Amino acid sequence: MILFLALVLLQSSASFAQQKGFKIPLIRSPTSQSVSSFQSGDGITVMNQNDFAYTVKVSIGEEVFHLTLDTGSSDLWVISNACQTSDCLNVARYSRAFSTNLTISQIPFHIDYVTGSVSGLVASETVCLGLFQMFSQVFGLANSTQDIDFSGNANSGILGLAFPSEASMPGMTVLQSIFSGVSDSYFTISLGSRLDSNSLSSFTVGQIESSQANSTSDFFAIPVSKAGANNYDYWKIPLLYLTINSTRLPLSSSSVKGVDQASQIAVLDTGTTLILGPTRDVLMFWDILGPAARRNQMSGMWQVRCDKAVVVGFVLGQENSYGEFLLDPADISWEEGGSSDGWCLGGIQANDKVDSGDWLLGDVFLRNVYSLYHAANSSSGPWIGLISTMNQTAALATFRQNRGPDLDSSLGLQIHAGFVSPSNRPSMMYTVSALCGFFGGAVLTITFLGVSRHGLRIRKRKE
Ligand SMILES: *[C@@H]1O[C@H](CO)[C@@H](O)[C@H](O)[C@H]1NC(C)=O
Ligand SMILES: *[C@@H]1O[C@H](CO)[C@@H](O)[C@H](O)[C@H]1NC(C)=O
Ligand SMILES: *[C@@H]1O[C@H](CO)[C@@H](O)[C@H](O)[C@H]1NC(C)=O
Ligand SMILES: *[C@@H]1O[C@H](CO)[C@@H](O)[C@H](O)[C@H]1NC(C)=O
Ligand SMILES: *[C@@H]1O[C@H](CO)[C@@H](O)[C@H](O)[C@H]1NC(C)=O
Ligand SMILES: *[C@@H]1O[C@H](CO)[C@@H](O)[C@H](O)[C@H]1NC(C)=O
Repeated sequence: MILFLALVLLQSSASFAQQKGFKIPLIRSPTSQSVSSFQSGDGITVMNQNDFAYTVKVSIGEEVFHLTLDTGSSDLWVISNACQTSDCLNVARYSRAFSTNLTISQIPFHIDYVTGSVSGLVASETVCLGLFQMFSQVFGLANSTQDIDFSGNANSGILGLAFPSEASMPGMTVLQSIFSGVSDSYFTISLGSRLDSNSLSSFTVGQIESSQANSTSDFFAIPVSKAGANNYDYWKIPLLYLTINSTRLPLSSSSVKGVDQASQIAVLDTGTTLILGPTRDVLMFWDILGPAARRNQMSGMWQVRCDKAVVVGFVLGQENSYGEFLLDPADISWEEGGSSDGWCLGGIQANDKVDSGDWLLGDVFLRNVYSLYHAANSSSGPWIGLISTMNQTAALATFRQNRGPDLDSSLGLQIHAGFVSPSNRPSMMYTVSALCGFFGGAVLTITFLGVSRHGLRIRKRKE
């Protein structure tokens, strides 16, 4: 029985003529209004911690849903009206009453995300994305979700665009369907930086956002890494080091198996709000800011003074060909993500739960680039293209204007005598950080409530 249905599902196809491509808007919407209490100095204060998702309109059968566009997972699923968990109440849910071509199999699916999980049954139906109509497209009808917390917003599921090897369901993924339907197999993502600038967010397939670039050759191209897997799994690339106000911050070696020591692996993940990295590197990063940064004991989250401008760069690519991509200081001292008493949520937080990459570069990073995701062809592997969209002069001026003067400009990089350019004394820097950091027996348990709702589907790191 199961085998028969699997065969039927495997026949799904994208039956359309090859097209030039299309563009559809991405909508940035808050996904939760969770309020966490934070212990600060001399009392309890409340800090609103916001989480945002970039959603895209997808029609399944006769119904239209807003789904999170997620480059960090590979499946398409939508909440079904059979779902009764508190997580999935109050959102638009799929009702089979409105569908003509629906096939529901008895094949179960279950997907774990960095936070939360979802399960249900594999189904197929006509799915439309932009101009593309995909007949018998496989998708998941979720009848149960845990800790995904879609309630209270318009977000009804996830459209995953990572590689098919990570898919939990049989048949062609949406990525395979759309790539088979365009003459030039790539998609691009542009994330608007502010709530009121939705118009700047877009998702294109097979065509370039003309306000950002003219051709695929305008992008800085980086081959996708297969590290730690037999096949391409995520849109991931080597991360050589970070910079803080132009000073180089070397990273520890990668935990991804099979990666050469010189680089870590970063996954581009639109489904994660923040930037998440290995605890030891993130600790060192914030430690360098001295008293301008602190780790909130209750939440486990790093916070940074709202008036502290820091320009952080991610240096991505290979030893012989790399690019530095700078972040708006307002994404590192992220007021919109939550603030209290002059402390803002840090855009970079620690996480060791991922084993297919060391870093997840979420929206906080992706807002600062125009990114392109190109399929493999007969002569080239898949690659990622990046164009920086961050204007440092303008960003710093806006930061000062919005955040006021830097009240204690003596706090900053300069107070850390141990922090010197790695070409001089790299090992010294590690030593200094380790001694004056928070390693002293503290257990760094991090919870990501309100931070990474969707995110990468991962195999949990084995303890
Ligand atoms: C919900 O999904 C599970 C598989 O994850 C399946 O076993 C169960 O039958 C489904 N329940 C309904 C009501 O569809
Ligand atoms: C159902 O599928 C057929 C082709 O198999 C297609 O012509 C028709 O438009 C589909 N109906 C809907 C509502 O998607
Ligand atoms: C696209 O090409 C035109 C003409 O060469 C040029 O003026 C424009 O700046 C280019 N646009 C981008 C975004 O590079
Ligand atoms: C394959 O892709 C590369 C890079 O995108 C491109 O330069 C090349 O022309 C493509 N080759 C074929 C055979 O399509
Ligand atoms: C960056 O912003 C500054 C100040 O707004 C402006 O003068 C400059 O032309 C911008 N640079 C680029 C490359 O857009
Ligand atoms: C980084 O550079 C900016 C602009 O020059 C400056 O305002 C800020 O204080 C510097 N931050 C640190 C931590 O040194």
